[in-house]
Amino acid sequence: MINGSVTYRRACGPQDFSVTYELFLRAANDLRTRSHREQLADTIARRTRALAFRQHAFTHDGDGFWLAEANGQAVGFGIATARPDFWHLNALHVLPGFQANGIGRTLLHRCMEYGRGPEVVSTVISEASQPISNALYARHGMYQWLPLVHIQCPTFPADLRRPAGAAAPRPGKPDAPTLAALDSIDQAVLGFMRGVDHRFWIELEDQSLLLLVARDEPVGYAYVSRFGGIGPCATRSTRYLPSLLDYSVTWAAEHGVQRASFVVPGLASASLRYLLERGGQYDADMTVLLTSKPFGRMDHYLLPANDALF
Ligand SMILES: CC(C)(COP(=O)(O)OP(=O)(O)OC[C@H]1O[C@@H](n2cnc3c(N)ncnc32)[C@H](O)[C@@H]1OP(=O)(O)O)[C@@H](O)C(=O)NCCC(=O)NCCS
Repeated sequence: MINGSVTYRRACGPQDFSVTYELFLRAANDLRTRSHREQLADTIARRTRALAFRQHAFTHDGDGFWLAEANGQAVGFGIATARPDFWHLNALHVLPGFQANGIGRTLLHRCMEYGRGPEVVSTVISEASQPISNALYARHGMYQWLPLVHIQCPTFPADLRRPAGAAAPRPGKPDAPTLAALDSIDQAVLGFMRGVDHRFWIELEDQSLLLLVARDEPVGYAYVSRFGGIGPCATRSTRYLPSLLDYSVTWAAEHGVQRASFVVPGLASASLRYLLERGGQYDADMTVLLTSKPFGRMDHYLLPANDALF
C-alpha cells in the first residue's frame, strides 16, 4: 500500500455519510477487538445519530469533512467542526488494512486547515488506550487533559417535590429566548457559543431539551434522548446539577428508557457522586479529552452521550 495512490477529497453529500459510518464501525471494532472489548453494534440508534451528525457537519462544516480513497473506495475519513474560538476533531478513522501509511496524518492536516487559528482552543476526544492517536494528536498540539468517565445508570422517577423557589424544568423550544439562554450558559460554562449545534440537537426527533429555571432565569440545560443518552448538560453552578440530573433521569424513565448513559469529565465530582449513588456503573469505554489549552468549567458540564459533537 503506497500513500501516493491515495487521494483526498471533501465530502460531497449524503452518499458519503453511511460509507463513513461503516468505515468508523470497522476501524473502531478492530481497535476494540485488539483491546478485548465488546464490539459496537450497528444499532438503529447509533446509525440514526451518526448519519444526522454527518449531515449537520456537511451542512455547517463542509470544509472540515474529508475522505481518503484508494481505487475509488473510502479507506479513511476525518471530520472537524469549527465554532468561534473552539475547534473540535469529531472523528478520524482509517481502515485497518490501510493504517500506518500516513493517511490518518494527512486527513488530520486537512481537517486542521479548516477554522483553526493559534488562539482557538483545539480539542479531540481520544481512546485512552490508543497510543497511536494520542501520540499523533500530541504532535499536533493537543495534549491529554481530562479523563472522561462513561457511566450507565438505571433510570428512576426521582422525588421531584422541591421547596418553593427551587429550580424547576421547562421544555426548551427552538425560539430566540431559548437559544439566547443556551448561548449565555455555554459562554459561562465552556467559554464559547455554538448556537448551530443547539439548533441541531433541539430538532432531533429522538430527544428533548430541558431548561432548568431558577428565579425566572435559565440556569442550566440538558438534552435527553429516547435512545438513552443524556447530554450535553450544563449548569451555571454545580449546586443545580443534582436537580438537572433528577429531572433528566425522570424524563428518561417516563419515556421508556431503562438505562441512561452519561459521559462525565473526571473532575465533575458532583455529577459523578450523583450518578454513582443512584446505581450508576462504569462503562468499559475509556476516553480522554485532549486540548491545546485548558478551557471552561468542566465540573459544570456533561458531554453528549449519543453523538460526536462536543
Ligand atoms: C489513529 C488512526 C486514525 C491513525 O491513522 P493512520 O493512517 O494509521 O496513521 P498514520 O499512518 O498517518 O500515522 C500517524 C503517526 O502514527 C505513527 N504510527 C502509525 N501507526 C503506527 C504503529 N502501528 N506503530 C507506531 N507508530 C505508528 C506514524 O509513524 C505517524 O507518526 P508521525 O506523524 O510522527 O509520522 C488510525 O490508526 C485508526 O483509524 N485507528 C483506529 C481508530 C482510532 O483509534 N481513531 C482515533 C480515534 S480518536
